[in-house]
Amino acid sequence: MNTVQTLAQLRSCVAQARSAGKRIAFVPTMGNLHAGHIALITQAVARADFVIASIFVNPLQFGPNEDLDSYPRTLAADQSKLEAAGCNLLFTPSAQDIYPNGMAQQTIVSVPGVSSGLCGGSRPGHFDGVSTVVCKLFNMVQPDLALFGEKDYQQLAVIRKMVADLNMPIEICGVAIVRDSDGLALSSRNGYLNAQQRADAPALQQCMQSVKTHIKNGNRDYAALFAQFNSDLQAAGFRLDYVELRDALSLEPADTDSRNMVLLAAAYLGTTRLIDNLIIDL
Ligand code: PAJ
Repeated sequence: MNTVQTLAQLRSCVAQARSAGKRIAFVPTMGNLHAGHIALITQAVARADFVIASIFVNPLQFGPNEDLDSYPRTLAADQSKLEAAGCNLLFTPSAQDIYPNGMAQQTIVSVPGVSSGLCGGSRPGHFDGVSTVVCKLFNMVQPDLALFGEKDYQQLAVIRKMVADLNMPIEICGVAIVRDSDGLALSSRNGYLNAQQRADAPALQQCMQSVKTHIKNGNRDYAALFAQFNSDLQAAGFRLDYVELRDALSLEPADTDSRNMVLLAAAYLGTTRLIDNLIIDL
Protein backbone atom coordinates (compact mmCIF):
# COMPACT_ATOMS: atom_id res chain seq x y z
CA MET A 1 0.00 0.00 0.00
CA ASN A 2 1.30 3.43 -0.97
CA THR A 3 0.78 6.48 1.21
CA VAL A 4 0.62 9.87 -0.52
CA GLN A 5 0.13 13.30 0.97
CA THR A 6 -0.25 15.71 -1.92
CA LEU A 7 -3.08 16.10 -4.40
CA ALA A 8 -0.62 15.80 -7.33
CA GLN A 9 0.59 12.40 -6.06
CA LEU A 10 -2.97 11.25 -5.47
CA ARG A 11 -4.10 12.29 -8.94
CA SER A 12 -1.19 10.47 -10.56
CA CYS A 13 -1.99 7.20 -8.70
CA VAL A 14 -5.71 7.55 -9.54
CA ALA A 15 -4.88 8.17 -13.22
CA GLN A 16 -2.79 4.98 -13.30
CA ALA A 17 -5.58 2.90 -11.77
CA ARG A 18 -8.11 4.47 -14.16
CA SER A 19 -6.03 3.80 -17.24
CA ALA A 20 -5.75 0.16 -16.13
CA GLY A 21 -9.57 0.12 -16.22
CA LYS A 22 -9.95 -0.34 -12.47
CA ARG A 23 -13.15 0.34 -10.54
CA ILE A 24 -12.19 2.66 -7.68
CA ALA A 25 -13.67 2.57 -4.18
CA PHE A 26 -13.04 5.28 -1.59
CA VAL A 27 -13.28 5.20 2.22
CA PRO A 28 -12.81 8.61 3.89
CA THR A 29 -11.80 8.50 7.58
CA MET A 30 -10.27 10.59 10.33
CA GLY A 31 -7.89 7.77 11.31
CA ASN A 32 -7.38 5.95 14.63
CA LEU A 33 -8.80 3.01 12.75
CA HIS A 34 -10.74 0.19 14.40
CA ALA A 35 -12.70 -2.81 13.14
CA GLY A 36 -15.62 -0.53 12.12
CA HIS A 37 -13.40 1.35 9.67
CA ILE A 38 -11.82 -1.88 8.49
CA ALA A 39 -15.28 -3.33 7.70
CA LEU A 40 -15.64 -0.47 5.20
CA ILE A 41 -12.28 -1.37 3.62
CA THR A 42 -13.23 -5.06 3.44
CA GLN A 43 -16.52 -4.19 1.69
CA ALA A 44 -14.62 -1.87 -0.64
CA VAL A 45 -12.14 -4.63 -1.54
CA ALA A 46 -15.07 -6.93 -2.33
CA ARG A 47 -16.76 -4.34 -4.54
CA ALA A 48 -13.93 -2.67 -6.44
CA ASP A 49 -10.49 -3.29 -7.98
CA PHE A 50 -8.64 -0.40 -6.38
CA VAL A 51 -9.33 0.83 -2.85
CA ILE A 52 -8.33 4.28 -1.62
CA ALA A 53 -8.65 5.37 2.02
CA SER A 54 -8.05 8.86 3.37
CA ILE A 55 -7.07 9.99 6.84
CA PHE A 56 -7.77 13.64 7.54
CA VAL A 57 -8.88 15.04 10.90
CA ASN A 58 -11.06 17.71 9.35
CA PRO A 59 -10.95 20.93 11.42
CA LEU A 60 -13.99 22.31 9.57
CA GLN A 61 -16.34 19.76 11.18
CA PHE A 62 -15.23 20.36 14.79
CA GLY A 63 -16.88 23.01 16.98
CA PRO A 64 -14.75 25.49 18.95
CA ASN A 65 -15.01 23.49 22.20
CA GLU A 66 -14.75 20.04 20.68
CA ASP A 67 -11.91 17.51 20.59
CA LEU A 68 -9.98 18.55 17.44
CA ASP A 69 -6.67 18.87 19.31
CA SER A 70 -7.03 15.71 21.37
CA TYR A 71 -8.45 13.57 18.53
CA PRO A 72 -6.21 10.44 18.43
CA ARG A 73 -3.64 10.37 15.64
CA THR A 74 -2.14 6.90 15.09
CA LEU A 75 -0.81 6.87 11.53
CA ALA A 76 1.65 3.95 11.71
CA ALA A 77 -0.89 1.57 13.28
CA ASP A 78 -3.55 2.76 10.80
CA GLN A 79 -1.26 2.05 7.85
CA SER A 80 -0.64 -1.55 9.03
CA LYS A 81 -4.39 -2.17 9.48
CA LEU A 82 -5.22 -0.73 6.05
CA GLU A 83 -2.49 -2.73 4.35
CA ALA A 84 -3.62 -5.96 6.04
CA ALA A 85 -7.21 -5.33 4.91
CA GLY A 86 -6.16 -4.94 1.26
CA CYS A 87 -6.28 -1.17 0.84
CA ASN A 88 -4.22 -0.05 -2.19
CA LEU A 89 -3.61 3.63 -1.51
CA LEU A 90 -3.77 5.91 1.54
CA PHE A 91 -4.20 9.67 1.13
CA THR A 92 -3.10 11.71 4.18
CA PRO A 93 -3.45 15.37 3.20
CA SER A 94 -2.55 18.21 5.56
CA ALA A 95 -4.99 21.00 6.43
CA GLN A 96 -2.92 23.19 4.09
CA ASP A 97 -3.53 20.71 1.22
CA ILE A 98 -7.29 20.70 1.84
CA TYR A 99 -7.80 24.36 2.80
CA PRO A 100 -4.95 26.20 1.04
CA ASN A 101 -6.71 29.56 1.46
CA GLY A 102 -7.82 28.86 5.02
CA MET A 103 -11.19 27.61 6.24
CA ALA A 104 -12.79 31.07 6.29
CA GLN A 105 -12.25 31.39 2.51
CA GLN A 106 -13.50 27.88 1.71
CA THR A 107 -16.64 27.44 -0.42
CA ILE A 108 -19.11 25.56 1.79
CA VAL A 109 -21.35 22.71 0.69
CA SER A 110 -24.43 22.80 2.89
CA VAL A 111 -27.06 20.07 2.60
CA PRO A 112 -30.46 21.40 3.73
CA GLY A 113 -32.97 19.40 5.75
CA VAL A 114 -31.10 16.29 6.82
CA SER A 115 -28.19 18.32 8.25
CA SER A 116 -30.54 19.95 10.79
CA GLY A 117 -31.56 18.49 14.13
CA LEU A 118 -30.12 15.39 15.82
CA CYS A 119 -26.29 15.76 15.75
CA GLY A 120 -26.68 18.85 13.55
CA GLY A 121 -28.70 20.45 16.34
CA SER A 122 -26.10 19.74 19.04
CA ARG A 123 -23.10 20.44 16.81
CA PRO A 124 -23.88 23.60 14.77
CA GLY A 125 -22.00 23.65 11.46
CA HIS A 126 -20.78 20.07 11.90
CA PHE A 127 -22.48 18.65 8.81
CA ASP A 128 -21.47 21.62 6.65
CA GLY A 129 -17.90 20.69 7.59
CA VAL A 130 -18.54 17.05 6.73
CA SER A 131 -20.31 17.67 3.40
CA THR A 132 -17.70 20.23 2.36
CA VAL A 133 -14.71 18.00 3.05
CA VAL A 134 -16.36 14.90 1.57
CA CYS A 135 -17.29 16.87 -1.57
CA LYS A 136 -13.68 18.03 -1.90
CA LEU A 137 -12.31 14.53 -1.28
CA PHE A 138 -14.74 13.11 -3.87
CA ASN A 139 -13.47 15.65 -6.42
CA MET A 140 -9.87 14.77 -5.58
CA VAL A 141 -10.31 10.98 -5.68
CA GLN A 142 -13.16 10.75 -8.23
CA PRO A 143 -14.19 7.27 -7.08
CA ASP A 144 -16.87 5.06 -8.62
CA LEU A 145 -18.03 4.00 -5.17
CA ALA A 146 -17.67 5.42 -1.64
CA LEU A 147 -18.43 3.62 1.62
CA PHE A 148 -19.76 5.06 4.88
CA GLY A 149 -20.76 3.45 8.17
CA GLU A 150 -24.35 3.34 9.38
CA LYS A 151 -22.88 4.18 12.80
CA ASP A 152 -23.04 7.82 11.65
CA TYR A 153 -26.57 7.44 10.33
CA GLN A 154 -27.30 11.13 9.81
CA GLN A 155 -23.93 11.65 8.12
CA LEU A 156 -24.75 8.88 5.64
CA ALA A 157 -28.09 10.58 4.87
CA VAL A 158 -26.32 13.92 4.37
CA ILE A 159 -23.80 12.36 1.95
CA ARG A 160 -26.53 10.53 0.01
CA LYS A 161 -28.48 13.77 -0.43
CA MET A 162 -25.38 15.76 -1.42
CA VAL A 163 -24.49 13.19 -4.08
CA ALA A 164 -28.06 13.13 -5.43
CA ASP A 165 -28.55 16.92 -5.35
CA LEU A 166 -25.18 17.66 -6.98
CA ASN A 167 -25.44 14.82 -9.54
CA MET A 168 -22.17 13.26 -8.47
CA PRO A 169 -21.63 9.99 -10.38
CA ILE A 170 -20.67 8.09 -7.23
CA GLU A 171 -22.44 5.09 -5.73
CA ILE A 172 -22.82 5.46 -1.95
CA CYS A 173 -22.72 2.25 0.05
CA GLY A 174 -23.77 2.09 3.72
CA VAL A 175 -22.08 -0.51 5.95
CA ALA A 176 -23.64 -2.00 9.10
CA ILE A 177 -22.43 -0.86 12.54
CA VAL A 178 -19.58 -2.91 13.98
CA ARG A 179 -19.94 -3.42 17.74
CA ASP A 180 -17.80 -4.73 20.58
CA SER A 181 -18.88 -8.04 22.11
CA ASP A 182 -20.82 -6.12 24.83
CA GLY A 183 -22.82 -4.18 22.21
CA LEU A 184 -20.98 -0.85 22.34
CA ALA A 185 -20.62 0.58 18.82
CA LEU A 186 -16.91 0.90 17.99
CA SER A 187 -15.77 4.52 17.88
CA SER A 188 -12.45 6.34 18.05
CA ARG A 189 -13.99 8.33 20.91
CA ASN A 190 -14.40 5.16 23.05
CA GLY A 191 -10.68 5.59 23.77
CA TYR A 192 -11.52 8.68 25.88
CA LEU A 193 -13.51 6.54 28.37
CA ASN A 194 -11.95 5.50 31.69
CA ALA A 195 -12.45 1.92 32.91
CA GLN A 196 -15.67 2.70 34.81
CA GLN A 197 -17.14 4.65 31.89
CA ARG A 198 -16.20 1.90 29.45
CA ALA A 199 -18.03 -0.59 31.68
CA ASP A 200 -21.10 1.70 31.75
CA ALA A 201 -21.05 2.52 28.02
CA PRO A 202 -23.00 -0.52 26.67
CA ALA A 203 -26.06 0.78 28.59
CA LEU A 204 -26.67 3.22 25.72
CA GLN A 205 -27.30 0.37 23.29
CA GLN A 206 -29.16 -1.69 25.92
CA CYS A 207 -31.57 1.16 26.71
CA MET A 208 -32.17 1.64 22.99
CA GLN A 209 -32.90 -2.07 22.59
CA SER A 210 -35.43 -1.76 25.39
CA VAL A 211 -37.25 1.10 23.55
CA LYS A 212 -37.25 -1.05 20.41
CA THR A 213 -38.78 -4.00 22.26
CA HIS A 214 -41.59 -1.81 23.64
CA ILE A 215 -42.34 -0.37 20.19
CA LYS A 216 -42.28 -3.84 18.61
CA ASN A 217 -44.77 -4.90 21.30
CA GLY A 218 -47.15 -2.16 20.18
CA ASN A 219 -46.34 0.68 22.58
CA ARG A 220 -46.65 3.97 20.64
CA ASP A 221 -46.38 6.36 23.59
CA TYR A 222 -43.03 7.64 22.40
CA ALA A 223 -42.89 10.47 24.96
CA ALA A 224 -43.25 8.00 27.84
CA LEU A 225 -40.74 5.61 26.26
CA PHE A 226 -38.20 8.43 25.89
CA ALA A 227 -38.76 9.58 29.49
CA GLN A 228 -38.04 6.02 30.66
CA PHE A 229 -35.04 5.85 28.32
CA ASN A 230 -33.66 9.07 29.80
CA SER A 231 -34.02 7.91 33.39
CA ASP A 232 -32.49 4.48 32.60
CA LEU A 233 -29.54 6.19 30.92
CA GLN A 234 -29.07 8.57 33.83
CA ALA A 235 -29.05 5.63 36.22
CA ALA A 236 -26.21 4.15 34.13
CA GLY A 237 -24.20 7.39 34.45
CA PHE A 238 -25.07 9.06 31.13
CA ARG A 239 -26.33 12.58 30.42
CA LEU A 240 -28.70 12.50 27.46
CA ASP A 241 -28.07 14.83 24.52
CA TYR A 242 -30.99 13.66 22.33
CA VAL A 243 -33.12 10.65 21.56
CA GLU A 244 -35.43 10.65 18.55
CA LEU A 245 -37.39 8.32 16.36
CA ARG A 246 -37.19 9.14 12.66
CA ASP A 247 -38.23 7.61 9.36
CA ALA A 248 -35.30 5.36 8.40
CA LEU A 249 -35.13 6.68 4.81
CA SER A 250 -36.19 10.33 4.90
CA LEU A 251 -35.06 11.04 8.49
CA GLU A 252 -38.35 12.91 8.91
CA PRO A 253 -39.80 12.59 12.44
CA ALA A 254 -41.67 9.29 12.82
CA ASP A 255 -45.33 9.21 13.78
CA THR A 256 -47.50 6.43 15.16
CA ASP A 257 -48.13 5.14 11.60
CA SER A 258 -44.44 4.87 10.68
CA ARG A 259 -43.21 1.36 9.90
CA ASN A 260 -39.55 1.66 8.88
CA MET A 261 -37.93 3.73 11.60
CA VAL A 262 -34.57 4.47 13.14
CA LEU A 263 -34.02 5.31 16.79
CA LEU A 264 -31.12 7.76 17.11
CA ALA A 265 -29.46 8.86 20.34
CA ALA A 266 -26.47 10.79 21.61
CA ALA A 267 -25.37 10.92 25.23
CA TYR A 268 -22.41 11.99 27.32
CA LEU A 269 -20.38 9.83 29.69
CA GLY A 270 -18.32 12.46 31.49
CA THR A 271 -17.12 14.70 28.66
CA THR A 272 -17.21 11.96 26.03
CA ARG A 273 -20.14 12.12 23.62
CA LEU A 274 -21.30 8.77 22.24
CA ILE A 275 -23.84 8.22 19.47
CA ASP A 276 -25.73 5.14 18.41
CA ASN A 277 -28.75 4.13 16.35
CA LEU A 278 -31.06 1.19 15.91
CA ILE A 279 -33.35 0.28 13.02
CA ILE A 280 -36.92 -0.50 14.07
CA ASP A 281 -38.70 -2.19 11.20
CA LEU A 282 -42.30 -3.10 11.96
P1 PAJ B 1 -14.60 8.63 11.11
O1 PAJ B 1 -15.29 8.92 12.39
O2 PAJ B 1 -13.14 8.29 11.13
O3 PAJ B 1 -15.38 7.48 10.39
C1 PAJ B 1 -15.01 7.06 9.10
C2 PAJ B 1 -16.06 6.09 8.60
O4 PAJ B 1 -16.09 4.94 9.44
C3 PAJ B 1 -17.48 6.71 8.64
O5 PAJ B 1 -18.17 6.36 7.45
C4 PAJ B 1 -18.08 6.05 9.88
O6 PAJ B 1 -19.49 5.95 9.82
C5 PAJ B 1 -17.43 4.68 9.81
N1 PAJ B 1 -17.49 4.03 11.14
C6 PAJ B 1 -17.02 4.50 12.32
N2 PAJ B 1 -17.31 3.64 13.33
C7 PAJ B 1 -17.99 2.60 12.78
C8 PAJ B 1 -18.56 1.39 13.28
N3 PAJ B 1 -18.52 1.08 14.58
N4 PAJ B 1 -19.18 0.57 12.41
C9 PAJ B 1 -19.26 0.89 11.09
N5 PAJ B 1 -18.71 2.00 10.55
C10 PAJ B 1 -18.09 2.85 11.36
O7 PAJ B 1 -16.98 9.89 9.85
C11 PAJ B 1 -15.91 10.46 9.72
O8 PAJ B 1 -14.72 9.90 10.12
C12 PAJ B 1 -15.79 11.84 9.11
O9 PAJ B 1 -16.93 12.59 9.38
C13 PAJ B 1 -15.52 11.81 7.57
C14 PAJ B 1 -16.66 11.13 6.81
C15 PAJ B 1 -14.19 11.08 7.28
C16 PAJ B 1 -15.41 13.26 7.04
O10 PAJ B 1 -14.39 13.95 7.69
